[in-house]
Amino acid sequence: ALAMPSRADTYPSRPITVIVPFAAGGPSDAMMRILAEHMKRTLGQPVLVENVTGAGGSIGVGRAVRSKPDGYTVSFGHLGTHVANGAVYRLGYDLVADLEPVVLLPSNPMIIVSKTNVPAKSLPELVAWLKSQSNPASAGTAGNGSGSHIAGLYFEQVTGIKLQYVPYRGTGPAMNDLVGGQIDLIVDQTSNAIGQVRAGTIRAYAVTDAKRLDSAPDIPTTDEAGLPGFHMTLWSGLWLPKGTAGEIVTTLNAAAVAALNDPAVKNQLNNLGLQMPSPNQLTPEALGTLQRQEIAKWWPIIRAAGVVPE
Ligand code: MLT
Repeated sequence: ALAMPSRADTYPSRPITVIVPFAAGGPSDAMMRILAEHMKRTLGQPVLVENVTGAGGSIGVGRAVRSKPDGYTVSFGHLGTHVANGAVYRLGYDLVADLEPVVLLPSNPMIIVSKTNVPAKSLPELVAWLKSQSNPASAGTAGNGSGSHIAGLYFEQVTGIKLQYVPYRGTGPAMNDLVGGQIDLIVDQTSNAIGQVRAGTIRAYAVTDAKRLDSAPDIPTTDEAGLPGFHMTLWSGLWLPKGTAGEIVTTLNAAAVAALNDPAVKNQLNNLGLQMPSPNQLTPEALGTLQRQEIAKWWPIIRAAGVVPE
């Protein structure tokens, strides 16, 4: 039989795959799986998560960019993959020209966490400890150009310390090694660390936001802990390949917005420390605008830091 042409009016008529460009069990994967569970109900089709990892997420994004623009392969990404990576890698695709923004997803403040046997108990003690090391302490990342890497670079910049980065295929596996004591710290997305912080298997020093987390109010902000103005929240989003029909973008956007508005979904995301976008940020255009603004802000910083591909 001949393959049916992809039609916007019957979309979706088969399962949708979302490519998460980091390891299963990490923060991107966890958020997308919570949303997919709700989106499949609105869309009436399975929403499958495929983890395509490597090179700071740029391999998975590339896979999505090169897929057919029929709405069945979606690109999940964030400030790292859909902004920073453009200043780090020769991507072979253009993050703006080759993608259609669909929807902004929740933001994650970053959290500075270490293995428990680092002697420091507060952020100033941690910075002093990091400065006293003859070899730079090791910091796990999800690869060069990933969220945790940019956050680490920002931390180095505001403190004058030097870190030794250890790239993983996501901060899920990096977190396992932090708990195991193989690496010293991660400047991670809060959602990935909060469970281990609560369990006492790692130590938290500060969240990089102006206000404390509702879900973990005992952790100080960077402002309170001695690094005023060190703020960073990592936003995420969904994109489709350029050329996807506008109706398909609208349908997928509506399904994601329905998930974000669901009280049970909201509750799950809030518990992880994630922050909801405001209602006026939920259009495809708003994501496109934010992405372009963030490219203008971050590319010069990342280039000045001399970040190289892995
Ligand atoms: C992940 O899911 O592993 C992350 O989003 C990684 C990161 O960018 O730090």
